[in-house]
Amino acid sequence: MSGRPFRNIVILTGAGISAESGLGTFRDKGGIWEKFDWQKLATPEAFRSDPHSVHDFYNARRANMAGAQPNDAHRALAALELLWQAEDRGSFLLVTQNIDDLHERGGSREVLHMHGELLKSRCNSCGHLFEHTHALGVETACPSCARAGGLRPHVVWFGEMPLGLDTIYEALGACDLFVAIGTSGTVYPAAGFVSEAKAAGAWTVELSLEPGEVSALFDEHHYGPATKIVPEWAGRI
Ligand code: APR
Repeated sequence: MSGRPFRNIVILTGAGISAESGLGTFRDKGGIWEKFDWQKLATPEAFRSDPHSVHDFYNARRANMAGAQPNDAHRALAALELLWQAEDRGSFLLVTQNIDDLHERGGSREVLHMHGELLKSRCNSCGHLFEHTHALGVETACPSCARAGGLRPHVVWFGEMPLGLDTIYEALGACDLFVAIGTSGTVYPAAGFVSEAKAAGAWTVELSLEPGEVSALFDEHHYGPATKIVPEWAGRI
């Protein structure tokens, strides 16, 4: 554990932080990509060729999210954000790969969803982006242009550009602490963030259930359930 007081922190979360809230991860045993074929459900091509199946897949995940509650790991990060601001320590950026709203419901005030948000939808016809908490279908009409057939989940699919990368890379270049929580480190560009942070001279920490693909790049590691190791870690920095 580096002894210096940290000023500029970037935190990256993945599906593991929401696992104990009952939302599935992707690559663990029994994970979402073990049950479903991402090539048929999470690509622009899949949506063009079979929008009904893609809508069904995301409608089921949206319904699953409705019953989930934030856990102590989400709440610990929200408390850390408040502490950072109260002590005016420096910049605090929470980036999540998750499309759920558990960080927000756990109290985090600023969350950068680099893979989008399932509780938002957007219209391919007019570009309207809006909150949408219930089922979506090919027949659903856009609340702005009233056209049907053009609505999609506001989710970044494989092959599409993640959101907020300029903000993320700027923060990584200026951070002195980078923490990855509950992510397998298998999907880029997120898996490459630790290297960006190290190049900036940051101390890097991996908090997960088990080592991820880029675990060797981190300075510090803590393994265990997020609801245990995240509050413990947050209470020490
Ligand atoms: N506490 C902490 N970590 C956990 C827990 C838990 N209770 N349960 C699982 N994990 C860890 C696993 O060890 C694994 O490292 O969470 C990680 C989940 O990895 P993935 O399922 O690959 O999820 P993630 O890294 O978020 O995937 C990245 O891939 O499919 C795309 O867009 C999707 O955002 C997703 C991206």
